[in-house]
Amino acid sequence: MSVWAILVAAGRGERLGLDRPKAFARLGDEPLLAEPLRRLDRSPWIDGIVLVAPPGWEEPAILLAEEEGCGKVHACVAGGETRSDSVRAGLAEVPADALVVLVHDAARPLVSDEVVERVLAPLSEGWDGVVPGLPVGDTLKRVGSDGAVQETVSRDGLWTIQTPQAFLVDTLRRAQAGVADATDCAGLVEAVGGRVKIVDGDPRLLKVTSETDLETVAGWL
Ligand code: CTP
Ligand code: MG
Repeated sequence: MSVWAILVAAGRGERLGLDRPKAFARLGDEPLLAEPLRRLDRSPWIDGIVLVAPPGWEEPAILLAEEEGCGKVHACVAGGETRSDSVRAGLAEVPADALVVLVHDAARPLVSDEVVERVLAPLSEGWDGVVPGLPVGDTLKRVGSDGAVQETVSRDGLWTIQTPQAFLVDTLRRAQAGVADATDCAGLVEAVGGRVKIVDGDPRLLKVTSETDLETVAGWL
């Protein structure tokens, strides 16, 4: 079976507020993108990679992939306005004979082989999609715009969802064609009636949003 990864790195990183896109923020001694790209390239589970770069940053992204010796990068394309647009641009570059696609946020640099293995396994048991997640640990409350607590919500069965998310390529292509938008790829598959399974994620798959997250992830390198 051939497994392709789409690494979406095309976001602007507005909440990080740097003079460059988040993918090129400094993480340790390198641009953030280097870490997840290298990890996916070295994964024995992955056969090919499509890199989705911020518009105008395709060349530095390709150079970085070359410098890192990431030989599995098959294409580098510019992303779109939304994350879904970027995934769509990436999926268009995944070859027709690919069986499985993993979609991963470059903003979650510390992707591991263990989590890749966990999301791939259930695809051979008939699931349409598999996503890593963590059970919600904190108490949840619904709060009004006036700051007043309206209710405490049961966290029973609630999970926060991470990436990499794995799909049969055909399923994701069909879901994309059938649904306008969803907050993640699994949402598209759910919307067309696909069965999506949750497996254990990893706290280290923290998504870098703020400067503090960048420091936290750098501390875990
Ligand atoms: N992403 C993308 N294309 C977009 C928006 C997001 O490829 N148009 C990617 C980001 O590069 C990131 C992942 O989707 O790897 C998750 O997005 P997020 O953390 O929201 O990143 P940004 O959109 O860059 O950050 P912000 O929302 O603060 O601008
Ligand atoms: Mg965003």
